[in-house]
Amino acid sequence: MKIKANAKINLTLDILGLRSDGYHGLKSVMAPITLCDSLDIEESDSLIFDCNLPELCGEDNLCVRAARLFYKQIEKEPRVRIYLEKKIPFPAGLGGGSSDAAAVLKGLNKLNGSPLSESALLELAASLGSDIPFCLLGKPALCQGRGELLTELCGLPSLNIVVAIGSGRLSTVAVYREYDAARLKARSDSKAFVAALNRGDTAELIKAMGNAFEPVADILCPETKLIREKLAELGALNARLSGSGPSVFGVFESEEKAANAARQLQNMGYFAMECVIISE
Ligand code: C5P
Repeated sequence: MKIKANAKINLTLDILGLRSDGYHGLKSVMAPITLCDSLDIEESDSLIFDCNLPELCGEDNLCVRAARLFYKQIEKEPRVRIYLEKKIPFPAGLGGGSSDAAAVLKGLNKLNGSPLSESALLELAASLGSDIPFCLLGKPALCQGRGELLTELCGLPSLNIVVAIGSGRLSTVAVYREYDAARLKARSDSKAFVAALNRGDTAELIKAMGNAFEPVADILCPETKLIREKLAELGALNARLSGSGPSVFGVFESEEKAANAARQLQNMGYFAMECVIISE
């Protein structure tokens, strides 16, 4: 069984504060994009996991953890071979690992005759990671709580975007820690974004895109600011950090402008890919 695992971007990301369980309360509009990994899942004698990138093979991989958790839940021995073709940069704030894990949960449920309901799968997903329920949903959503409480958002335009990343990498945990230390003023981009979406005002919706981590990511990995500025120079209507970075995305008014910007960034040595928001 072949499954695609789409990357996500955070169109908004507001941090509401540190919770007593150590997580941060957040409000974020997330959307899947056409950049994706591919998985091949088939029955086998035991659990075998393989990947085109050898450094990602091993028990720690979220695909393996998702598979073990799924079989434990249905009280069966894990007998499956999973092959992951990784194309989404990592760690990047693009939800690649989370999306792979969601694809494994979805694929294994199908392979085993759907023993788990959608809500049971969502619960398993949340226990594996904050972004995995969203990846399981696979549609634009306002994500709250620690990211696992989803409100589906309809009517989002299939915007042309360019996702880009330099050679630096950021750890999610470190970005959250630095954010707390910086004591930044709270933002509320999500509210303005959802209001613009409800009014059908695409220009305002693009303007409302924002990410509370940007000031921290810009210091920890200055390349992120540089690429955002470059995207703006190349005609992006807005250019923002995705998740805890260091990937960024730019929104373009046409496919041609996005393709041109992606080419220019690639010529500068960056990973850059023209994609589209998956709106439903
Ligand atoms: O849930 P997940 O394993 O993806 O989270 C990774 C880390 O990111 C957590 O251990 C925590 O440090 C941080 N995090 C957070 N608040 C969230 C989501 C993640 O502090 N809402």
